[in-house]
Amino acid sequence: MEEAETTVSENTSNEEASSAGRWVAVATSDAVQEGAALEVIAGDQVLAIFRNSGVLYALDGMCAHQGGPIAQGEVANGCVTCPWHGWQYELNSGIQTINRQPLQRTFPVREIDGRIEVQL
Ligand code: FES
Repeated sequence: MEEAETTVSENTSNEEASSAGRWVAVATSDAVQEGAALEVIAGDQVLAIFRNSGVLYALDGMCAHQGGPIAQGEVANGCVTCPWHGWQYELNSGIQTINRQPLQRTFPVREIDGRIEVQL
């Protein structure tokens, strides 16, 4: 009997794994192509999922400023710029690039067997 191949790719560096919530499937892998973003709702959480330079990131989908749609922001140099008023956050940390404060929540994200999962 052959074992099924399992592909696991995790990006948990942006939040302590010890705050361990449950992993929730939020999208299929092909729903977030390289350079793209997707807004999803998981439970009561709006999430913005990005794939940038081959790495997945998951951030709160509502901007810390006034709730703008982060998934619609432009990504450059590892940062996303909110489309409403231009606040900019590092994808891997949620740090706001002007005041250097971690204003935008981030979530561990991984990819397993063709699906993207976020730890809530
Ligand atoms: S709502 Fe995002 S910058 Fe204002």
